[in-house]
Amino acid sequence: MSEVSFKNRVVIVTGAGGGIGRRYALDIAARGGAVVVNDLGGAVDGTGSSTSMADQVVEEIHKTGGKAVASYDSVATTEGAENIVATAIQSFGRVDALINNAGNIRPSLLEDSTVEDMESLLAVHLMGSYLMAKAAWPHMKEQQYGRIVFTSSSGGLFGSALHGCYGAAKAGVIGLMNGFSQEGKEYGILCNALMPNALSRMTDKVSEQADKGDMERVAPIIAKIQPAFQPEFNTGLGTYLASEACLETHHIYSSCIGRIARVFIGVTEGWLGTMDSPPTAEDIAGNIAQINDTSRGFCTPDSPMDEIMGVLAQHEGDAS
Ligand code: NAI
Repeated sequence: MSEVSFKNRVVIVTGAGGGIGRRYALDIAARGGAVVVNDLGGAVDGTGSSTSMADQVVEEIHKTGGKAVASYDSVATTEGAENIVATAIQSFGRVDALINNAGNIRPSLLEDSTVEDMESLLAVHLMGSYLMAKAAWPHMKEQQYGRIVFTSSSGGLFGSALHGCYGAAKAGVIGLMNGFSQEGKEYGILCNALMPNALSRMTDKVSEQADKGDMERVAPIIAKIQPAFQPEFNTGLGTYLASEACLETHHIYSSCIGRIARVFIGVTEGWLGTMDSPPTAEDIAGNIAQINDTSRGFCTPDSPMDEIMGVLAQHEGDAS
């Protein structure tokens, strides 16, 4: 296996002042990359700011002889995102990869959530990922090379009580990745998403807000998985997706206590009507089990047209 190197590469890692992001920054710097260690340095809910979190990680990298520069801007504003990219260009002359990792969390039942919570989560995760990609894109396009890593979440893609708002922001990130990966292909810009799992200050916050009974039930499981439920267990995947070694695009990967897997949006074979008359509510009610059935196989369309062509083939196969 050849070594995954970041020699002469410049990587922006957002939210790199702690948790999972810090590990990406340390690993990429250790592999020869120059890293923009971005972190707003605030609280886990996204409020407040400081310079200390990013500074500490930059210091760690410098101590080991690596290249890094701190950035304290918020990913959630146009100006902040542009400043973060400008920091990469001014300090190291280019930007090869962007890891959109910054995030906040505000666990809450729908009925207790506030519009401000929803706006804050969308601003950091979804707008932040969008603004960062938009700011980095022209540089990547010009050099005909780029890697963009989006951070989604099982809480968004699989669903989790108390996390409807956070989940919406994290699922929205998949929409960015889906579209930008299609646009980036011709310029050598590859976009993928990952779903990490780790104990961090973010998961501490989730535990704090969770139902006591639920926490008692999961405590023995957490104790068992603890050695692998750590930020560094996600590092290999983030580093790979940000590297030249990664030739994948438009994929979602899950990193979960030592298992890396592809996650995909699948479409069941479904129930096939005809192209002459629209399906009725009775057709759906009478065939819902078949519509839901994943055991007969499924497809993973790459685009809207890919899905249409697949269904057309089903119709044509049916007619022949
Ligand atoms: P963390 O709270 O340690 O890291 C997030 C970092 O983002 C913090 O250092 C924070 O200061 C920074 N940040 C927040 N708002 C920012 C902004 N506007 N601009 C720049 N930086 C900002 O949490 P963790 O667990 O390391 O999370 C990293 C990413 O992984 C997040 O996007 C999170 O949603 C995602 N994730 C984490 C999971 C886990 O199990 N820990 C599960 C699924 C997703």
